Amino acid sequence: MIHTQFRRDAGLIRRVSSTSASQERLARVLATHDCGSRCQLHHGDMCDPCCLARLVAHIRPDEMYNLAAQSHVGVSFEIPAYTTEVNGAGALHLLEAIRLAGLQHSCRFYQASTSEMFGKVLEPVQSERTAFNPRSPYACAKLFAHTITKNYRDAYGMYAVCGLLFNHESPRRGELFVTRKISLAVAAIAAGFEDCMVLGNLDATRDWGHARDYVVAMHAMLQQPTPEDFVVATGETRSVRAFVEAAFHAGGMGSVLWQGTGLDEVAVLQAPHTAGRVVVRLSAEFTRPSEVDALIGDPRKAVATLGFNPRATPFEQLVAEMVHADMVRLAEMRAPGLVISTPEQRATSSAPAEEDHEMPIFTI
Ligand code: GDD
Repeated sequence: MIHTQFRRDAGLIRRVSSTSASQERLARVLATHDCGSRCQLHHGDMCDPCCLARLVAHIRPDEMYNLAAQSHVGVSFEIPAYTTEVNGAGALHLLEAIRLAGLQHSCRFYQASTSEMFGKVLEPVQSERTAFNPRSPYACAKLFAHTITKNYRDAYGMYAVCGLLFNHESPRRGELFVTRKISLAVAAIAAGFEDCMVLGNLDATRDWGHARDYVVAMHAMLQQPTPEDFVVATGETRSVRAFVEAAFHAGGMGSVLWQGTGLDEVAVLQAPHTAGRVVVRLSAEFTRPSEVDALIGDPRKAVATLGFNPRATPFEQLVAEMVHADMVRLAEMRAPGLVISTPEQRATSSAPAEEDHEMPIFTI
């Protein structure tokens, strides 16, 4: 996404023959915030440096946020060269495009660096000073983009910064990332559409925050007097297993009990009417050739300099928001117009409780 001095926004969109899920997601975002009128999308591709150079020269942006990526770490093992081209060389193409357009002293550049670059971590809590040790083609490519961004800052005096963002989630998360896979599966199980979800490594831990809080920090990084890199994280870490437990709780299905070991481990429901139902199984299909076991970030620099609030969205609230959004989506698919309410909404509603039951209601 690109900001111009006239506060018009421009974005890059890849051409595809059929409508993709991400295009639909983008259309929803533009419609929801009524930004369609001031945001122009241009066809382009991170693998096409000529097109990027032409677009940057034409748009002449004053801020540029490079969030473009093949962003699935697991998939990067299957398509490493493409991932490297988009995530690594893509950033270089943008930096060169800025320079070739003569904008190196006017256009501020944000590079989406990632906690994945810490990989097999060399310090228990990762900060801006922690050394990198990437564990996937995805992270290796991102590390190139990170270092080339710093190089353009040093070599050409560009305002070019890297945001070292730890995992940031929301109901808009792609369905193949673990948090959304879980929230969607919990909603489907609650609605009776599915019996069980299949996951990979339950014991990986991640520092999970809310994307809407992190985007504010990204913007703040480009408004500083001097260009610097920042870690953005909550400073708390939880396992995939803990996310599953919180999601079933948020979905109103009570606690789960883990039974078995290794890939034979399962989670079963505990609530009296569903007790014993297996709702999580494991498969090697969803494990990675080399895993990032544990990540937890130190956000103190972002807190002190950017005013970032790592407590803005507590973990349980993030999980509940994702699960509830998926319950609403599934209910809408089943019966358009269905009303879904949270316990908080029902507590503050003036409508008598009986009225709620005229329509099927999921609660969280
Ligand atoms: N995707 C997925 N699917 N991951 C699973 C599954 C599963 O079925 N089961 C367990 N996991 C584990 C993964 O092995 C990993 O340890 C953890 O869940 C999180 O996986 P993802 O949700 O795919 O995210 P990620 O941590 O690999 O990477 C995300 O966050 C990075 C940091 O912000 C991506 O968004 C990256 O693009 C981003 O850089």
